[in-house]
Amino acid sequence: MVQVKAADKRDITEESDFLKIKAIDHVHFYVGNAKQAMYYWWKGFGFKPIAYSGLETGNREFASYVLESGKIRLVVSAPYEPNIPMAEHHKLHGDGVKVIAMEVDDVAQAHEATTQRGGVSAFAPREEKDEYGILHTSAIETYGEVLHVFVDRSEYKGAFAPNYQPLDFETENSGLVSVDHIVGNVELGKMNYWVNFYHQVMGFRQLMHFDDQDISTEYSALMSKVMENNNGRVKFPINEPADGKRKSQIEEYLDYYRTPGVQHLAMTTGDILETISILQSNGIEFLRVPDTYYEMLPSRVGEIKESIELIRELGILVDRDDEGYLLQVFSRPIQDRPTAFIEVIQRHGSRGFGKGNFKALFESLELDQAKRGNL
Ligand code: FE2
Repeated sequence: MVQVKAADKRDITEESDFLKIKAIDHVHFYVGNAKQAMYYWWKGFGFKPIAYSGLETGNREFASYVLESGKIRLVVSAPYEPNIPMAEHHKLHGDGVKVIAMEVDDVAQAHEATTQRGGVSAFAPREEKDEYGILHTSAIETYGEVLHVFVDRSEYKGAFAPNYQPLDFETENSGLVSVDHIVGNVELGKMNYWVNFYHQVMGFRQLMHFDDQDISTEYSALMSKVMENNNGRVKFPINEPADGKRKSQIEEYLDYYRTPGVQHLAMTTGDILETISILQSNGIEFLRVPDTYYEMLPSRVGEIKESIELIRELGILVDRDDEGYLLQVFSRPIQDRPTAFIEVIQRHGSRGFGKGNFKALFESLELDQAKRGNL
């Protein structure tokens, strides 16, 4: 367990960028069947498969595909054997995010800086080589079984990493551009612990927080704090369940994932109407709020560029704050267990997370939870 100071009630705002993260490098899912997961991201979400590792490339432990859309890079891997940690991970948690990797200039410095501040090493700086160069990585642990891998690609020119061969699949791009934020669900009472971890160990600051007054329905509640790195390209909201009459969505997640983990990955698009109509026609399922939401929408958010009629048809949500507005939509869980899901977001000035949509959204989520017998 990471040794960090007790929870601090004050908001953490001071900056200290000793880590110099450039951006999210990739998000790595451990799954039961990498070939089928690849197909889902390819045909469902419009990601282009760009690299493969497996028996044919000399990898006898697991099969792995790398996919890209805009600046987003996803990896899906599944074990060939039952006795490797990846297989154990899948048996316990089902499909889910194992690694959130971040690009840095110096993986040794990142490893040293974070472990000196109380981070637990997952692996020391290492070099993997092939004819395309050297890939430098190191890693620390975060909540649950998730790892933060630091990656330096400056000396590597291959498809993704040594042992991966390039793929070139024809792909219908859906317009997903970048990772907006990645949300972690942690246990009751642990939110501040992990907020402190991101501040002390990784030099992040707190961008905003939501309490159970903001995020509660008749039945359940949650609390959330958003941590952000120095250049603002990496945003990690941390959720914990709060007391409610029934089981919160965070508790349902923790019950099925059996440990804290990544709840959702939010990806930006420059044209949410186009992106969501493609994803829906590809069969990706999204949560829908009641139609009354759209009757109130014009008075709640005022003038927006997009057609309200199309927004209603596609089930897109809108929220406005002092800085502008945002459009967002949430998928149903992307695997059998009610654990991880996807958010698609388009920002017009707003840097928020859709606070005005929380209530309608969580009520809709609870309808699904009730159907699963978990509310
Ligand atoms: Fe989100």
